[in-house]
Amino acid sequence: MKAARIHAYGEADQIRVEEAPMPVPGAGDVLVRSVAASVNPVDWKIRKGYLKTMIPYDLPLTLGWDVSGVVAAVGPGVTQWKAGDAVYSRPDIRRQGTYAEFVVVRADELAAKPATISHVEAASLPLVSITAWEALFTTAGLEAGQRVLIHAGAGGVGSIAVQLAKAKGAHVIATASKGKAGLVRSLGADEVLDLREAGAVHPDGLDVVFDTVGPAVQEPAWAGLKPGGMLVSITTPPSEERAKAEGRRAGFVFIGPNAAILRDLAGMVDAGQVRPVIGAEFGLDHAAEAQRLSEAGRVTGKIVIYTGQP
Ligand SMILES: NC(=O)c1ccc[n+]([C@@H]2O[C@H](COP(=O)([O-])OP(=O)(O)OC[C@H]3O[C@@H](n4cnc5c(N)ncnc54)[C@H](OP(=O)(O)O)[C@@H]3O)[C@@H](O)[C@H]2O)c1
Repeated sequence: MKAARIHAYGEADQIRVEEAPMPVPGAGDVLVRSVAASVNPVDWKIRKGYLKTMIPYDLPLTLGWDVSGVVAAVGPGVTQWKAGDAVYSRPDIRRQGTYAEFVVVRADELAAKPATISHVEAASLPLVSITAWEALFTTAGLEAGQRVLIHAGAGGVGSIAVQLAKAKGAHVIATASKGKAGLVRSLGADEVLDLREAGAVHPDGLDVVFDTVGPAVQEPAWAGLKPGGMLVSITTPPSEERAKAEGRRAGFVFIGPNAAILRDLAGMVDAGQVRPVIGAEFGLDHAAEAQRLSEAGRVTGKIVIYTGQP
């Protein structure tokens, strides 16, 4: 089968689209014929070796950890899936990835693909949706009527976070550059601003600030939060001491697979409450180009890679 792999850590030119061994599902595994994968910043962070002390990969490594496709075969002991089922997943990043024609995924990391969208759209959702859900709901406990500031509302995580927070009934304030403000409003944001602009005023009275950008947005967040409010980050753990001193709370999320969230999300997608936002599409042969675009940090929504026929 064809796969986009690295044989050494480094820049995007390390990615080789080549023949790789057909993966074989073990006990509890499912072989998925992939129709589409999506690109997340963790893909190129792994390619560059940033996670190699945490996860000692055996190279060559197929990159990518989002997939939508069709069950091709099941391993021993798998009863909940059968050949032909349409599924989507954010599989375990410690295993071989999804920029490939086939991928083996644990049966309990899969969920039925939302019925009303294509595989290309479905592949854009798992990683960013699990992240937004765990940050906003599981960690920060966002409730209806609360005020939330979501950074980078036009990014992969932000574009889903805005929709989830709106569906919950929160008052959603999002950051985005001017050209992207219309899109972010169409996703449900009540207010859109660019805090990078000179003279921009940080919102206050916030119950939750969601940092998807980095430490620069954390410092002003403390004063914007209500007493007891939470700064939740997916980039850098906010200071616990600072949170205590300010009478606020700090949270940090590093996600893993979560099929339960993907099942709930599929219901929301099919009910029209959440829609995928796709900014760019590439063939598998252009995986390196897709990663370069992600690394440039300006993408709107998600980048998707076609890996097979629907
Ligand atoms: N901990 C975890 O489990 C976890 C999970 C998922 C992602 N992450 C991390 O979270 C970060 C975001 O991921 P992502 O997939 O959302 O990235 P992304 O899609 O590449 O984000 C790109 C977007 O960010 C916007 N942006 C950048 N800086 C901004 C700022 N200061 N204000 C407003 N918008 C800004 C850009 O808009 P402009 O063009 O307007 O700048 C662009 O639309 C990455 O570092 C990723 O590795 C962590």
